[in-house]
Amino acid sequence: MPDHCPTLRRNGDQVIILDQTRLPWQEVFVCLDTLDDAAAAIRDMQVRGAPLIGATAAFGIALALRNNASDAALQAADACLRATRPTAVNLHWALDRMQAVLRPLPATQRSAAAWAAAEAIQSGDAAANAAIGRHGLGLLQALAAGIKSRPLHVMTHCNAGWLATCGHGTALAPLYAAHAAGLEVHVWVSETRPRNQGLLTAWELARAGIPHTLIADNAAGWLMAEGRVDAVITGADRIAANGDTANKVGTYLKALAAHAHGIPFYIAAPRSTVDFNCPDGRAIPIEERSADEVRIIGGLDAAGLPAGIRLAGPTTAACNPAFDVTPAGLVAGIICEFGVFPADGLAAIAGRQA
Ligand code: MRU
Repeated sequence: MPDHCPTLRRNGDQVIILDQTRLPWQEVFVCLDTLDDAAAAIRDMQVRGAPLIGATAAFGIALALRNNASDAALQAADACLRATRPTAVNLHWALDRMQAVLRPLPATQRSAAAWAAAEAIQSGDAAANAAIGRHGLGLLQALAAGIKSRPLHVMTHCNAGWLATCGHGTALAPLYAAHAAGLEVHVWVSETRPRNQGLLTAWELARAGIPHTLIADNAAGWLMAEGRVDAVITGADRIAANGDTANKVGTYLKALAAHAHGIPFYIAAPRSTVDFNCPDGRAIPIEERSADEVRIIGGLDAAGLPAGIRLAGPTTAACNPAFDVTPAGLVAGIICEFGVFPADGLAAIAGRQA
């Protein structure tokens, strides 16, 4: 198991988060005191990753109801948080769950119930992560059975580790489980331009002592062609009913390349990431973020201080879709807390609660 500090934790009637915009250079914890603090933390990506976004929104409701738990306050907080980021459906799932718990209660009982419901979402996600780890470990062990005298090479994209969830992660959970079980793994970590969430993955894996190598996103296809990748596992932000999956932009290209080379491509995500109201990937809203995320890259300056380095002038046209959709046909399986399912077989979990 990774040695991790919680990305999100209740501290009395406040919430402490690990500010991911400062990683991997600085470990800074920030206190969220108000609804606006929680909304800004999600919008500005101090917290990120679909399950963590959902849990932060749930705690945002608890923060909002501390002094006013009227119907109007609940509705306003819900609307504010729902508008923060559009693609990760866990945000809506968590807010729907908070509404279902809180609406029927008298205002006097809502504040305590909101904290309890948010903490239940947090612990439920941690449990789902653990189950994903166990199911994914079985897949990795089966793949490793055919390999001798070298580690299993698994590629991932973006960050779907403990930073992105309330437990050990989704895509990284099977790798943490494999490492704990003594299975030799090596992880190809793609940089994930423009925001470079791959650096967060490299930081996590380094802390856990799991061998890994950072690559430019563009190197993924060539490494697959060279036979240096045994499997790909990524997380998801929203999975449509037919198995089409939205995840960090660049996932689709990896799935295409994996398919071309006969490499299994898995999605690891909890049930709360499956949106049965979305029939297919065309119905998934894709977040378009600021063009400056493409024009300006974050890093350390010559003095070792965090800085933005301009790559392109402000008048250079830049387009920044934050996610893409991988068609179900390219996905070898979806690893969730209930097991491993074919991407077109999600109906089996439609009636199960996250
Ligand atoms: O924009 P981000 O960093 O929030 O995007 C995160 C991803 O795309 C993750 O792969 C996904 O949310 C799964 S996190 C367990």
